[in-house]
Order: sequence, then structure tokens, then C-alpha cells
Amino acid sequence: METIIVKFTEDTIQNNEKIKTAGKIIREGGVVAFPTETVYGLGADALNSRASQKIYAAKGRPSDNPLIVHISNIEDLRKITIEVPEKAKKLAARFWPGPLTMIFEKSEVVPLETTGGLQTVAVRMPNHPIALALIQEGGGFIAAPSANISGRPSPTLAEHVIFDLYGRIPMILDGGLVGIGLESTIVDFSEEIPMILRPGYITKEMIQEVIGEVRVDPWLVAASEEGHPKAPGMKYKHYAPKAQLILVSGVQERVQKKINNLVKEAMEAGKQVGIIGTDETYLEYPYGIVKSIGTRTDEDTIARHLYKILREFDDQKVEIIYSEYFLTPKIGQAIMNRMLKAAGQQVIEV
Ligand code: TXA
Ligand code: MG
Repeated sequence: METIIVKFTEDTIQNNEKIKTAGKIIREGGVVAFPTETVYGLGADALNSRASQKIYAAKGRPSDNPLIVHISNIEDLRKITIEVPEKAKKLAARFWPGPLTMIFEKSEVVPLETTGGLQTVAVRMPNHPIALALIQEGGGFIAAPSANISGRPSPTLAEHVIFDLYGRIPMILDGGLVGIGLESTIVDFSEEIPMILRPGYITKEMIQEVIGEVRVDPWLVAASEEGHPKAPGMKYKHYAPKAQLILVSGVQERVQKKINNLVKEAMEAGKQVGIIGTDETYLEYPYGIVKSIGTRTDEDTIARHLYKILREFDDQKVEIIYSEYFLTPKIGQAIMNRMLKAAGQQVIEV
């Protein structure tokens, strides 16, 4: 299949003919990759079961892993849900459009192919002009997982989508590097007390400020591979680079020393080694391929570059990556959730 790639600049989004073409592809049951503020999505008509199936096929995604339905108008929630609790309305008013996904009981119009067989539906209104325009042109309801091949890090640049899906989908909308770089926070409203199923840019504290008590899926807290997470997708070994990733945690100077020792050993064993440091520390690592993920004074930069760096290490055929630890109070929780998964929970404490 030929894949058309459309590049955008800020002033070419309004009334764009290419977005109309992309919307037409979606209305006719096809798939299109597009940017959102979190990661790139692979979109299809959420209310068309055959269109949703095409997403699973293109990504190689297990069919029990449900998709998020993206909307561009709050009123459209009524069509795809049975009931929207007051607390959810409050969160929508505060955080939509934005990096928050909420789960509700689904209405009949949403096919089980979109929800991975579940009676609930995950919904999000993304905060990105290309995404919002595409949803409008595409009929109002776009099912979209991250636009990567299943098991690879989520794409934060169109180049990542091209690498994974070129030739498998008809169109990729290129909006440059995304703003946030980690997938949305997921909150489940299908139970009495809302529960966070996936941490993201919108933190538990931010949610609590608006609606009071929220729980966190115990599976996430235990950080174990036992039992089941409530979001089926969280059980898969997601976000994984090809290289083995090992996190080193502790006092900064000791972390640097330990990483340098480990790097030397791995290089002596003939391995291609990568290091994830920060703007503040990368000069402290004399050996191996060193990358700065961002600055500790602005944790958003760390979130934005994580997946990009993991993919770059893959391209450079790195076999083992040592990384500093980034447990900061806000988006740091989401960063570490993704890094611990990518590392298969391997942490060295120093
Ligand atoms: O930021 C994002 O959320 C991005 C962009 C494209 O919007 N999308 C995204 O989709 O990350 P995906 O498919 O990669 O992750 C969706 C997660 C999966 O872990 C899935 O299991 C969970 O949401 N999920 C979807 N519907 C659900 C439901 N009804 N109940 C429980 N979990 C659900
Ligand atoms: Mg994904």
C-alpha cells in the first residue's frame, strides 16, 4: 500500500484540504495516523467494527486490548455512553481537551471490536488542532491507540510512525514532535470510586483537587507482573526498546559512579552500551553512547524525549542501556511507570 505523508506547519492546519482527505479516508472505513499532544495515534471510525479491526491488524495488536475513542465535542459523549457521572463531567470541564482518558459504560453504537469485547468505553478529547480537525472531518468518533507496532515505544515524531507503519496504512499526518510525549492518564468511572488505570501528565493530585477521592489500580502500585491490571494494555511488555534497560537509583554521584563502572564492564564484554543522563550530568559519562533526556529543572522535557531516545538507541544497535532514575512528584510518576515497564522492573539501588 502506498502511504501518503502530509507535513503541517502551524498556519496550514485551518481548513486544510489534506485533513478533509484524511477525514474522508476515516469515514470510508480506513485508518490514518495523526498527532495528538501525548503521542501519535492510529485512527479509524470508532463506530465501524471493520474499521477498528484494521487498526489491530496494522499494529499487530492483541484483539482483547481496547481502543480509546477520541471526540472533539463534549456533547458527543452522550452518544457513546449510557451515563456520565457528575465527577467525570467536572474532570472533563477542567482537563478537556487534554491528556485525560475516562472510562464509562458504553452505549450500543460502540461495537465490541472497538472496546476489545468490554461493555465499557474509554474516551478522550485530545488537545491538538490537527487531531481535533481530523475528528470533526472523520465523523466525530475516532478510535486510536498509539501509532506504533505493538510492543514498540509509542511514537512522538512522525518519523517513528513512518518507521513502524509505512506501507501498512494509507496516510500519516506529520505535526512534528508532540508536546507531552507520554500517553494520557486513564481514569475508570465504571466503579463507585474512580480509579487511575494508567498514570500520565494529569496526576492523581490534580484529579483529587477537582473530585476528591481517587484510587490507583493496585496492580500499578505493586509494580508487579502478577494479577491483572484493569487496563488490559498495561499487562503487555509495552514501551520496550530492543536493548536491555537497567535503571540505577540513589544519590546522584553514586549513581554516576555505578553507571560508569557498569558501562566499562559491558564494553569490555564487547557490548554496544547506551547511557541516559540529563543536561546536568551527561558530561560525567566518558564511555558509551551518552544521551541527555532533558533537564531535571523541567521534568516535562524528560517525558517528551523518553520514547525518542529509546528508539534512537535501537537504531544505533545498542544492546544494553543504563539510565538514571527520574522519580519526581508530578509527571515523574508517569515517567517511572513507563521506564520501569521498559526495564522489566530492573533497578539497581546504590
Ligand atoms: O494518549 C493516549 O491515550 C494515546 C493517544 C493516541 O490518544 N492513546 C493510547 O492508546 O495510548 P493505547 O491504545 O496505546 O492505550 C490505551 C490503553 C490500553 O492500555 C487499554 O488497555 C486501555 O487504554 N483501555 C482502553 N479502553 C479500556 C476500557 N474500556 N477499560 C480498561 N482499559 C481500557
Ligand atoms: Mg499504546
